[in-house]
Amino acid sequence: MKKKINIAIDGPAAAGKSTISRRVAQRMAYIYIDTGAMYRAVTLHAIRNGRGVIDQLDDLDIRFGTDGTSIYLNGEDVSADIRTQEVTNNVSEISSLAEVRRYLVSMQQKIAEDKGVVMDGRDIGTTVLPEAELKVYMKASPEIRAKRRLKEEKERGTDIDLATLTDQIIRRDDLDMNREISPLIKAHDAVLLDTSHMSIPEVEEKIIRMAEDLLRED
Ligand code: C5P
Repeated sequence: MKKKINIAIDGPAAAGKSTISRRVAQRMAYIYIDTGAMYRAVTLHAIRNGRGVIDQLDDLDIRFGTDGTSIYLNGEDVSADIRTQEVTNNVSEISSLAEVRRYLVSMQQKIAEDKGVVMDGRDIGTTVLPEAELKVYMKASPEIRAKRRLKEEKERGTDIDLATLTDQIIRRDDLDMNREISPLIKAHDAVLLDTSHMSIPEVEEKIIRMAEDLLRED
């Protein structure tokens, strides 16, 4: 059988991780897993039903659609609902809870068991898949990330300006980097990619080349 690897892509908010990961997965015919979407789904569930539901996560059904982009919460397509400002503004706090991380990390590890997965998030290289064959840490300045995110939000029809988005990104990074459990940090063996001045195809190509080199080994 053809050898497969796991690819872990971490980095701060709006660094372009999901766009790149999705493209890399498509090129390699791998499964793409957006772990941020899973934390957002749990956050949406807590906003709708109250914080008490965090104690009963085992009853929660979170699944990805076959297109690799939609996400279902107890059978409902919540792909758009998890991207609202309300969810974005609460997700880092919910993600810092031990019960939430325990539940989602174990689910993510199960998904990646058979390899052939590109997974993006904050703690993939350090906690979820410490044995991943390829680890990438993507970074870009907050200003550049906010500009990229503004374009996406406008396309989605959100009424938001650059200054608000920059503040939101800086606040979220701060919470994600300074939480007690699995904070966002570059794994010691991750390749650092500063994408501030790189195009999407350039970043994609670089990761594909590293993956191909690893697949050619042994
Ligand atoms: O990737 P995205 O920006 O959608 O992630 C939303 C939030 O989910 C992050 O700001 C972070 O708080 C949380 N997250 C996490 N661990 C991951 C992925 C996301 O804590 N592996």
